[in-house]
Amino acid sequence: QSHLLGIEPLAAPEISTILDLSERYVDLNRSNMKHGDALAGLTQINMFFENSTRTQASFELAGKRLGADVMNMGMQASSIKKGETLIDTALTLNAMHPDLLVVRHPHSGAVDLLAQKVNCAVLNAGDGRHEHPTQALLDALTIRRAKGRLHRLSIAICGDIAHSRVARSNILLLHKMENRVRLIGPPTLMPSGISDFGVEVFEDMEEGLRDVDVVMMLRLQKERMDGGFIPSEREYYFRYGLDAEKLAYAKDDAIVMHPGPMNRGVEIDGEIADDINRSVIQDQVEMGVAVRMAAMDLLARNLRANRTKEVMV
Ligand code: CP
Repeated sequence: QSHLLGIEPLAAPEISTILDLSERYVDLNRSNMKHGDALAGLTQINMFFENSTRTQASFELAGKRLGADVMNMGMQASSIKKGETLIDTALTLNAMHPDLLVVRHPHSGAVDLLAQKVNCAVLNAGDGRHEHPTQALLDALTIRRAKGRLHRLSIAICGDIAHSRVARSNILLLHKMENRVRLIGPPTLMPSGISDFGVEVFEDMEEGLRDVDVVMMLRLQKERMDGGFIPSEREYYFRYGLDAEKLAYAKDDAIVMHPGPMNRGVEIDGEIADDINRSVIQDQVEMGVAVRMAAMDLLARNLRANRTKEVMV
């Protein structure tokens, strides 16, 4: 692949390749050394048009640990504020010869469009409600490490599915790896036509969580609700917030995940989120750095191979 724009175009063996290489970077990150040279001599630009803590910090660390020159564009202070378009901004940065562009944007499809205009590798760090591929990959690595496998598991994704790029990328990835995916949430937060994705849909937490191996909670994405129906947080927590009582319907060894940022007392009880016997939320953050190192390493190998071919021609 020349870019990482989504999970959709990836085949199961490609997903396994990224996860296998990520394992090596988990070991490196836990060592005293922490540094490699897979991106030495390359320039990585991070363009975040939407707020981020985990994704931006981990892409920056990943690039620096692998020897890239990393630049974080402060989009709030850029000429976008003077009316420059996304494409003109991308073309301007492209003229400075970056090798890797990491882009987060509030509009679905914006990162794909940008990738068509530049001649470097583009990584989607989340576009609207479309895809967040590195989140799904880090979730997959977390599940594989906690459960010892990434197939034939029953995984419940709960909450605001309609506005979630994390849910979409995870559904795609988990199906490619032959897992059963259940979606649980109020009908107002389920996208139309979701049954076509080959998932089971539940309105009731107790029913949906019964005997699952993995419980993945999602945040209410109020910023994407466009003035539509926003449930009351109190009512939402009562029906859909994950607490000990609801978790008891899942398997005894079921793990609890959340991509963050979390709203404690809305979609998840704070004690469950902090329970080191059930919650792998901090592992997800750790895996994020390793997965982003692996993704950029593999794209850089492809970039270098293509450039060598061009020189030979
Ligand atoms: N999970 C995730 O994308 O978190 P950030 O918005 O903090 O990057």
